[in-house]
Amino acid sequence: MNKLLGGALAGLLLAACAVGVAAQDNTGEQRETPEHIWASSCGYCHGGPMNAPRLHGRQLPEAVVIALVRNGANGMPPFHASAIGGEDLRALARWIREAPDPAPAARP
Ligand code: HEC
Repeated sequence: MNKLLGGALAGLLLAACAVGVAAQDNTGEQRETPEHIWASSCGYCHGGPMNAPRLHGRQLPEAVVIALVRNGANGMPPFHASAIGGEDLRALARWIREAPDPAPAARP
């Protein structure tokens, strides 16, 4: 491998490590369980009286869930990082894809 390429690869590796460290350092935020976020912020509409589409059991890609939550949709408010932190949102997206459908929220 020539020196230039080696240097570029080393730089990429360093950059990747820096990103990894930054992600780990990002734990100052309040951590919430996916179940709790779902119950307090999502379940009322998704599976509750608002009749928003069900999300569990649909193998929704995490990126789709994250984009929807950050940007909102028709009838769905956006949730910014101050409301649901980045780590929590990733965990929530994973949980939505993997967990069984939770019991529907109580209807009034
Ligand atoms: C106020 C009601 C409401 C809340 C609260 C809400 N949503 Fe939604 N959401 C909706 C509606 C309505 C849609 C359908 C939007 C459309 O059809 O364009 C939707 C769509 C979505 C979709 C796309 C589903 C699809 O079939 O394409 C995802 C993913 C999603 N919501 C995730 C969430 C998550 C995660 C939360 C909690 C952090 C949440 N939503 C909170 C009302 C809500």
